[in-house]
Amino acid sequence: MHKIGVLTSGGDAPGMNAAIRAIVRNGIYNKVKIVGIGRGYTGLLSEEINEMAISSVGDIIHRGGTLLKTSRCERFRTDEGIQDAVNILKKHSIDGLVVIGGDGSYQGAYKLGLAGINVMGIPGTIDNDLAYTDYTIGFDTAVNTVLNSISNIRDTSMSHEKVTIIEVMGRCCGDIALYAGLAGGAESILVPEEKYEVAKICEKLMQGKRRGKTHNIIILAEGRESANDLQKEILEHAGIESRITVLGYLQRGGTPTAVDRILASKMGARAVDLLLAGKNNRAIGIKDNHLIDVDIMDALAQKKVFDREMYNLSQILSM
Ligand code: ADP
Ligand code: F6P
Repeated sequence: MHKIGVLTSGGDAPGMNAAIRAIVRNGIYNKVKIVGIGRGYTGLLSEEINEMAISSVGDIIHRGGTLLKTSRCERFRTDEGIQDAVNILKKHSIDGLVVIGGDGSYQGAYKLGLAGINVMGIPGTIDNDLAYTDYTIGFDTAVNTVLNSISNIRDTSMSHEKVTIIEVMGRCCGDIALYAGLAGGAESILVPEEKYEVAKICEKLMQGKRRGKTHNIIILAEGRESANDLQKEILEHAGIESRITVLGYLQRGGTPTAVDRILASKMGARAVDLLLAGKNNRAIGIKDNHLIDVDIMDALAQKKVFDREMYNLSQILSM
């Protein structure tokens, strides 16, 4: 193993830079060349490949986003795209490739692995939607970003005695809504994994009003329905007006938390160690606070189990 490539792919996530930094520095420590591939699979296919030095990753551990840039690349979904990538990796004598991204990026990495490339997957996505690992890089930072927003919105919601719907990201996974909602004391947490009736939401709003609650915060995961639709449903059902805040891309930025920086640093260094040990096609994760690595296909095959215990607790505590 003489040269390892690293790229970031799909939605960016705070902490990706800490992972890149760990890969570069642990690689150089082990006398391996590290090359950065710009703009994910798009950049791989256009050979945006540059050697990285210790100084290349100076002063980035605290920065959100990704130094290497990222992309979504339709061509990489084709057999020709995969074959072109394999040829380019071989042309540049890249022995191993670390892909930092979500489940889609892992799908691409898996296909490179099938074609004989030594790949390692590092879970970089705010969604926390990869079942094989307890946490993905960026999730903790996104939860804290939402938590800060809940706190700000609570102030004005209370002052005007309003109901506020906060729509959060997560694509099809409700973890950001669930974790931030529980931590933020939201009155209702609506996630793709749990059906609900608008009538019950409205009843809870009216119960709260009756006992003197001056505001209500509803956290809505984007994969469930849009905040606009929910706002209309609540108004039609109970004549209750509500305000909407869609946090959107705020959740993808910001300085990574200590949790994400440490997780990313450990995972990045481990990816290099595993490649040097002759391992390939592994997805690195964390389980019960210990680093693990599993076959990428097994990682992708695992289905996320919704934390119903945590969801039920959030319902009890927000009575
Ligand atoms: P994420 O990795 O954050 O889940 P995406 O789902 O958009 O983001 O995937 C990122 C990129 O991974 C896609 O733009 C595409 O280039 C590649 N990709 C996704 N799914 C596949 C697939 N089934 N086969 C090959 N490449 C894929
Ligand atoms: O996968 C991360 C994510 O932020 C999702 O939570 C969100 O739905 C999606 O990316 C947004 O995709 P895009 O960046 O292409 O708008």
